[in-house]
Amino acid sequence: MGRPGRRVAIVAGLRTPFVKANTAFKDFSALELGRQVVSELVQRAEIPPSAIDQIVFGTVIPAVQLSNIAREVGLASGLPKSVDAYSVVRACATSIQALTSAADAIALGEADLVIAGGAEAMSDVPIMYSRPVAQAVVAASRGRTLMEKLQAFTDVSAKDLLPVPPAIAEYSTGLSMGESAEKMAKENGISREEQDKWAHRSHFLAAQAWEAGKFGKEVMRVLTGKSFDQVVAEDNIVRKDSKLDGYAKLKPVFDKKYGSITAGNSSPLTDGAAALVVCAEEKAKELGLKPLGFLREYAYAAVDPGWQLLQAPAFSAPKALKRAGMTLKDVDLFEIHEAFAAQVLSNLQAWASKKFADEHLGGAQPIGDVPEEKINPRGGSIALGHPFGGTGARLVHQALRELEEKGKNTALVSVCAAGGLGAAVILERA
Ligand SMILES: CC(C)(COP(=O)(O)OP(=O)(O)OC[C@H]1O[C@@H](n2cnc3c(N)ncnc32)[C@H](O)[C@@H]1OP(=O)(O)O)[C@@H](O)C(=O)NCCC(=O)NCCS
Repeated sequence: MGRPGRRVAIVAGLRTPFVKANTAFKDFSALELGRQVVSELVQRAEIPPSAIDQIVFGTVIPAVQLSNIAREVGLASGLPKSVDAYSVVRACATSIQALTSAADAIALGEADLVIAGGAEAMSDVPIMYSRPVAQAVVAASRGRTLMEKLQAFTDVSAKDLLPVPPAIAEYSTGLSMGESAEKMAKENGISREEQDKWAHRSHFLAAQAWEAGKFGKEVMRVLTGKSFDQVVAEDNIVRKDSKLDGYAKLKPVFDKKYGSITAGNSSPLTDGAAALVVCAEEKAKELGLKPLGFLREYAYAAVDPGWQLLQAPAFSAPKALKRAGMTLKDVDLFEIHEAFAAQVLSNLQAWASKKFADEHLGGAQPIGDVPEEKINPRGGSIALGHPFGGTGARLVHQALRELEEKGKNTALVSVCAAGGLGAAVILERA
């Protein structure tokens, strides 16, 4: 079984190092991060620019000047001006959406070769002003005299002048991601110890993978500084000296009294970008590009954001497996986005639960208990970081490289996202 239409290959991928917000990339915009990754990816993959049909790109917290960041990334990175471009957003699954949109266009024969990816510059989030200030600015711009311009501000209070930073909170429920993860931990009985253990595992495995040089094919070097004379070659969130007992000392952040979510077991606010080259199998052959793997199937799902915000992978993963005619034993690797350790453990718990399948999946067979060694063997978003727009492409490329190294065939990539959304992608190498 497989998706209808032409077979879709992923022939290359690349990401910047992922760094904690307000550190090494603090002066970069999402556009700059996207530009760097796309231009280097195209060069490294040795793709003739004339073969690129489209760029699909996204960012989750966009700058107001960049309503179609995909087009700006395409132009800034030197792709031919004739390369079509559109932007997508699906919260933390944004670059999964970029991939599947590219794949659909390729399957249908609308495009042969597409760059798909995303970027996030949490160091450069747009800071807004209150509605009264915005209205006064517009009114002042219409004023003909200085007096008329000043009069526009007479109703603006001192409080209105305070800048409004973007909230990482659900618009519909008002709960932050962290508060929603806290709710999931409580409702699913995920203990602080289990969360800390998972977070420590993430750092340990990521540090081990860096040490072993496993990210060499995945991560580019980025030049920073006023004269572009400083090199950022590695992620800077991974703790090389992670110790399990260090996690227990951290205070809960989102429910200070009864909570279990800490800075240690959450993904951090991150800057970075990632992109993939997606191509029709026949076009890859024609251009002499060797596929890293193929997109076999994908599925999305949505749950009530007021229920368990980050639990939609409990629906999207079984849906993708069912569509592909596969079961747990057919999957060699699970790359699961780690927004919070509590979310990963909740997703895994639901995948294994007969009760969950009976109550929510119409009595279908649960996926089953995923052996831990099959999950995120190079660490996950808690340690590697999570630039919202870039994480999906990072997961897909990392999964394909891990399969390549282990000589295995199939991976399931799973991403939870704001809005109660979930994505699952099944990749295969042969
Ligand atoms: C949780 C969060 C608020 C923490 O932010 P922060 O306070 O800037 O975090 P820091 O990295 O400064 O860590 C706080 C402290 O914990 C310590 N710490 C963090 N991780 C640690 C670890 N693994 N082991 C030991 N100590 C750790 C830090 O060293 C720091 O200590 P200090 O205060 O003595 O310097 C922030 O990362 C966040 O909002 N994350 C969630 C992002 C989100 O919602 N994502 C959406 C997912 S869909």
